[in-house]
Amino acid sequence: MRMFAMTALTSLAAMSAAPALAQDVAQNTAQQAGGVSAASPDGRIKVMLTVDGDGRPAYTVTRDGKPIIAPSRLGFLLTDAPKLERGFRVESQKTASADTTWEQPWGEWKSIRDRHTELRVRLRESTAMARVMDVVFRIFDDGFGFRYELPDQPNLKTANIADELTEFALAQNGTAWWIPGSEWNRDEYIYNTTKLTDVPLAHTPLTAKLDDGTHISFHEAALVDYSGMWLQRVEGTKFKAVLQPGAQGPKVVRGTPFKTPWRTMAIANDAAGIYQSHIMLNLNEPNKLGDVSWFKPSKYVGVWWEMHLDKSTWSTGPKHGATTANVKRYIDFAAANGFRGVLVEGWNVGWDGNWFGNGNDFDFAKPTPDFDMDALSAYAKKKGVHLIGHHETGGSTTHYEKQLDTAFAYAAKHGIEVVKTGYVTDAGQLERVGPDGQPMREWHDGQYSSRHHLQVVETAAKYKVAINTHEPIKDTGLRRTYPSWVSREGARGMEYNGWGEPKNPPEHEAVMVFTRLLAGPMDFTPGVLSLEGKGGTPILSTIAKQLALYVVYYSPVQMAADLPENYAKYPGAFQFIKDVPADWSDTRVLAAEIGDYVAFARKDRASENWYLGAVGDEQARKVTVKLDFLDPAKRYVAEIYRDGPDADYRTAARHSIAIEKKTVKAGETIDLAMAPGGGTAIRFVAR
Ligand code: NOJ
Ligand code: CA
Repeated sequence: MRMFAMTALTSLAAMSAAPALAQDVAQNTAQQAGGVSAASPDGRIKVMLTVDGDGRPAYTVTRDGKPIIAPSRLGFLLTDAPKLERGFRVESQKTASADTTWEQPWGEWKSIRDRHTELRVRLRESTAMARVMDVVFRIFDDGFGFRYELPDQPNLKTANIADELTEFALAQNGTAWWIPGSEWNRDEYIYNTTKLTDVPLAHTPLTAKLDDGTHISFHEAALVDYSGMWLQRVEGTKFKAVLQPGAQGPKVVRGTPFKTPWRTMAIANDAAGIYQSHIMLNLNEPNKLGDVSWFKPSKYVGVWWEMHLDKSTWSTGPKHGATTANVKRYIDFAAANGFRGVLVEGWNVGWDGNWFGNGNDFDFAKPTPDFDMDALSAYAKKKGVHLIGHHETGGSTTHYEKQLDTAFAYAAKHGIEVVKTGYVTDAGQLERVGPDGQPMREWHDGQYSSRHHLQVVETAAKYKVAINTHEPIKDTGLRRTYPSWVSREGARGMEYNGWGEPKNPPEHEAVMVFTRLLAGPMDFTPGVLSLEGKGGTPILSTIAKQLALYVVYYSPVQMAADLPENYAKYPGAFQFIKDVPADWSDTRVLAAEIGDYVAFARKDRASENWYLGAVGDEQARKVTVKLDFLDPAKRYVAEIYRDGPDADYRTAARHSIAIEKKTVKAGETIDLAMAPGGGTAIRFVAR
């Protein structure tokens, strides 16, 4: 990673660029007991921390002088000590600002600017315990984050956290898009659209359009050695953090000093603004893995959809999918069409019993007798293709941890560059075996899980193997710190279009972009051009929409999920899947309404070409976009893949597609006419 410009955190007093803020600090220093505040570099978002008469700290957020977060409490409940919640006074405060630019080794944008104001407040109890709690805010032009830092101190050597007391009291009602927290199927739910006042307990990201039109998205950044947060509505539009449980009693156990994840909120005028916000990445630490150029963003195919259609099985026997002959067929298909990877599921020992929630039979270095790993990896190598490994754990994390070194050494030896991991078990049912041999049950987003995943990623990185996690811990931007943790599932993916009841609804993608995808890349596995799930059941999409998903959903590992024989039926549309890259230098949201439609333009990192992807919902609609992202000095051939005139996700005409070419240039506009359940994909080839 190359740094462009690095400005050390400078003290605010020394800065001439933020006079308004300097004034605030002077005022607040004068007030002392009243509270302390700081503003974003553009001055629009302002955060204030106050302490009430009982010494209870609370924070408030405004944008353009209008309240976004009404006074909201801060603190912790501990299992073995009085709560950290009142009796505090502000002992000190410090403000600083930063303006740096850094590069993503792969991603939606090559260069990321991090411009923020930091406010650090030290709170000390006035009681005999005199415990100290720092609250650190980072305020950006497009949102803010705050975290707790608990310093090393005599009366808090270990924090046994029963829960956080952090509140988020929204100042307005609005429309919210959310999935439930603490439910058995983890995060694989269809998104709900309700008023904020109708949200019960929600997973994050939770996104809302407030009544005045302001768009916000709640999430958390840098979830490391801590428990993930749900949002529970307390009353009205007031929410509080609820940490996922831990098997051993406290939800989090940490020795001091330590820092919590950032509690984050992107804030913008519109949906496009919250997608373009970089706070998630900027609130994570820089790359700790060094050179990761061994990971190549790329597309893959694989022995996968056929199992979800019930055409073959993960288990051995007459229908086994991962046989040497079948995998050879996929390697040939990948080589012929320019795909770098071939995923093979069901290749290893352990699939023959009931592996849901029980992965103790899995061996990650032992292929089934009908899968010749040595021969296949040599054959793939000859053809310029790499097998993609698969480690389904069934949630048996300890069993997996014992095999990590062997498993990744085995993968690396066979030219495997990426391993897809999986944790198929109900929420709260990860199996962790303690030193006494007794199994404990942990949550997918709990503190134990956060440690487990980093152990997997760091071990794999030693062998230059990247990780794509399914049934993952929630993504909180850790790809910045660990850039070989390349993708995750963590929502309802394409598999639900195989066997889901119901299948993913037509608005799914236009919601997911502004919820799940705000957390980071998703291995959704698009591109099912046959538009058929198990038993020939229709997928609620058009072909053009399947193509658009390669631009709309970002992932540096992007699957062409359909069967090779199905791609053979749609050679025209398949061309777009062959052409579209999986790594971008720039991304723009051209038009969007959450849950209705979204149009993206993304620039290929390896060429001057741009790609456009637009998806709608169940309504037919026309979205007009300006081509002002194109280089004005160039002309482009636009290869347009749009819904045919009769296309409709509800009829057999869901396969209707029109493919045409025309010459375009910057400054022009283009009408994207999308069918019900449809979309548009365009490749702009620079001349
Ligand atoms: C669930 C994953 O999401 C899916 O992609 C995979 O095929 C199965 N588990 C089996 O591991
Ligand atoms: Ca899944």
